[in-house]
Amino acid sequence: MSTILVTGGAGFIGSHTCVELLDSGYDVVVIDNLMNSSKESLKRVEKITGKKVRFYEADIADRAAMTKILEENDIYGVIHFAGLKAVGESVEKPLEYYKNNISGTLEMCDVMRKHGVKNIIFSSSATVYGEPAQMPITEKCPKGQCTNPYGWTKSMLEQILTDIQKADSEWNVILLRYFNPIGAHKSGLIGEDPNGIPNNLMPYITKVATGQLPRVNVFGNDYPTPDGTGVRDYIHVVDLARGHVNAIKKLEENPGVKVYNLGTGKGYSVLEVIENFSKACGKEIPYVITDRRAGDIAECYADASLAKKELNWEAKYGIKEMCEDSWNWQKNNPNGYR
Ligand code: NAD
Ligand code: WQD
Repeated sequence: MSTILVTGGAGFIGSHTCVELLDSGYDVVVIDNLMNSSKESLKRVEKITGKKVRFYEADIADRAAMTKILEENDIYGVIHFAGLKAVGESVEKPLEYYKNNISGTLEMCDVMRKHGVKNIIFSSSATVYGEPAQMPITEKCPKGQCTNPYGWTKSMLEQILTDIQKADSEWNVILLRYFNPIGAHKSGLIGEDPNGIPNNLMPYITKVATGQLPRVNVFGNDYPTPDGTGVRDYIHVVDLARGHVNAIKKLEENPGVKVYNLGTGKGYSVLEVIENFSKACGKEIPYVITDRRAGDIAECYADASLAKKELNWEAKYGIKEMCEDSWNWQKNNPNGYR
């Protein structure tokens, strides 16, 4: 029960989850092709925890590599982060997104099945709710129309994994729907390191704070929200990582298929995030109001009570720590891992 395979473990959420797993006494094996990350993150994970990560630089679709990993290690379950995740890019490159995320997962699951490894925790997203039918969003809220291929890969993979479990009850599948992960480990040694100009709000703000970008573009202030800007449920990445450790404990109950929202249950507007970040970094963050971004919704926040009840998990950190820790990472690593 003690060795976990983390796919995409060198990435933002994966590296933080490796820390929480190691700190909780699990052995960690990582597969990552480093297409959106650096090996350095895993060295930092080892530095933080004082423990070793067994790393395989390979693609999840590489059957020979996956086979080798499952033969060389006694894997209890897989936490599956590996995937492409840029919403805008997925609209430009649907084939690449469907191939990497869906074909990759299918190949991986087939090899897992051959080796009798049938426990999986999957990184899903609140994006599967589309334009949510209710707020806050509970897991009972129907899945909706995604606005981009990335979102569809999450929605489709949820269905695929559910069907695999339905056909073979030895599988246990936990679908974790993340809201908006931000923040970084307290040490400031690991954090989010996007390539190029960030698409997401927090990494954009941090680059404005270091002077690498001039100002934040606030995408619309005419939404039906208190200050007109978009409201999201930001969640500290360390809280999110802890949620995965609790999900592993849940797997041990052979739960079949389970779906959990991982959010704080509280929404913040774009302007509130900017204000909180200004306090955390001690300087004004310049911004300008621009047009809405295509595909954005007004608000999105979780009802996180099911995860509390069934996973015994809830977020500990608020927006203050999220901003402080994002800033601590960015100021210590202005060029990320480079
Ligand atoms: P990330 O890009 O930092 O991490 C993903 C990792 O997967 C990267 O290290 C990348 O190199 C690796 N990877 C991608 N395709 C691979 C493949 N075919 N084989 C092996 N490795 C591969 O992203 P993240 O923010 O840490 O997100 C992790 C997961 O959580 C993703 O599946 C993402 O879709 C999901 N998610 C993220 C967010 C978010 O806002 N960050 C929200 C909801 C869901
Ligand atoms: C947050 C708010 C923007 C950037 C995305 C994916 C979602 C999930 C999490 C993976 C919105 C506003 C943003 C900027 C801004 N990822 N904004 N200026 O869109 O809620 O979710 O990441 O699964 O699938 O869609 O996150 O950080 O991009 O935006 O005003 O430069 O900030 O309009 O209201 P989003 P985000």
